[in-house]
Amino acid sequence: MKTMTCIADLRQTYHRKVPRAFVDYCESGSYAEETLRANRADLERIKLRQRILHDVAGRSTRTALLGEQLALPLALAPVGLTGMQHGDGEIHACRAAQAAGIPYTLSTMSICSIEDVAAAVAKPFWFQLYVMKDRGYIRALIERAAAAKCSALVLTVDLQVIGQRHRDIKNGMTVPPEIRLGNLVDIATKPAWALGVLRGRRKTFGNIAGHYPGMSNVTVLSKWIAEQFDPTLSWKDVEWIKSLWPGKLILKGILDVEDARIAAKTGAAAIVVSNHGGRQLDGAASSIAMLPPIADAVGAELEVMFDGGIRSGQDLMRALALGARAGMSGRAYIYGLGAGGEAGVARAIEIIKNELDTSMALCGVTSIGEINRRVIAAL
Ligand SMILES: Cc1cc2nc3c(=O)[nH]c(=O)nc-3n(C[C@H](O)[C@H](O)[C@H](O)COP(=O)(O)O)c2cc1C
Repeated sequence: MKTMTCIADLRQTYHRKVPRAFVDYCESGSYAEETLRANRADLERIKLRQRILHDVAGRSTRTALLGEQLALPLALAPVGLTGMQHGDGEIHACRAAQAAGIPYTLSTMSICSIEDVAAAVAKPFWFQLYVMKDRGYIRALIERAAAAKCSALVLTVDLQVIGQRHRDIKNGMTVPPEIRLGNLVDIATKPAWALGVLRGRRKTFGNIAGHYPGMSNVTVLSKWIAEQFDPTLSWKDVEWIKSLWPGKLILKGILDVEDARIAAKTGAAAIVVSNHGGRQLDGAASSIAMLPPIADAVGAELEVMFDGGIRSGQDLMRALALGARAGMSGRAYIYGLGAGGEAGVARAIEIIKNELDTSMALCGVTSIGEINRRVIAAL
């Protein structure tokens, strides 16, 4: 792993080791992928301010987020089907995050269930919730997250309907999934992946299959999921979730100042400024473009997190400078997972941490609290 010196190296190995359909599922954005590209392009445009001859010995990337002490201001984002990128992927990613001292978020759409992950790791993790039409199921899911001692509930609010990803349809990653000959040939050339995933115990949506005993078949399950996303979802449902979940609530998927102001009144502890990694509304602004106005509007009332395009410590530095308390990483850690399992995720986190640390030194700051718009040279 030491020869993997940047996230791009992990990505290259990930592309080599994981079947094309799952790589495409990870890399794709919705429709023309304008927002997916904007997330990266707008981050790269932000220039950091080089400062010299400040004593930067003894600096630290440590920070506090929602009352938790973190080794760096980063959390692993919820990523559906992580266990298809690597056998037991959710467990590997959670272990790596916890060893590195940062939170891991388990997706509703995970392969390993809440209980699988809780049994395999030492500390509490965060659970991401999609609200589905079957509210009885949602209530049960929240109870399961509480029983597993999850330390925050991350309610995703930007997926009432699903943005189309062309490559998923072309690859047969549709709902229900289609197995095509091309996919099978590709899988045959990825033996390490096949050994982990196909020989593994867990191959379906762990959080759902357990709840509906009749639905062990992945095709039936996928169809159920597609029908269950709820276009009627509203702020009233956020109130309802809040009444069921006594712990910290994070609203993920806010990209508008007006929505952020409403979110701040719900009693949520944090929001994540996010466009779902460019997978939902194509043509929406990049996450980083919307971070400063949202942080200005509500940063004093709740903790503002950010995701969308983070591929380096420099990117994380840019987000912190523009008002984020912490970033979330999606694809960057999935590249690490596909490239090398738990060690690969650990390496992805380490790379971002080391880059953040060096960038802090070269910008003349020694603590996360000092990172603000003064470290930006040009927007
Ligand atoms: C393959 C994939 C699956 C995702 N699944 C979920 C999910 O189940 N729940 C959710 O809230 N967000 C999901 N997201 C969005 C991520 O949590 C996060 O917002 C996004 O990946 C951040 O952008 P980045 O990948 O550029 O870091 C997914 C993203 C990807 C790439």
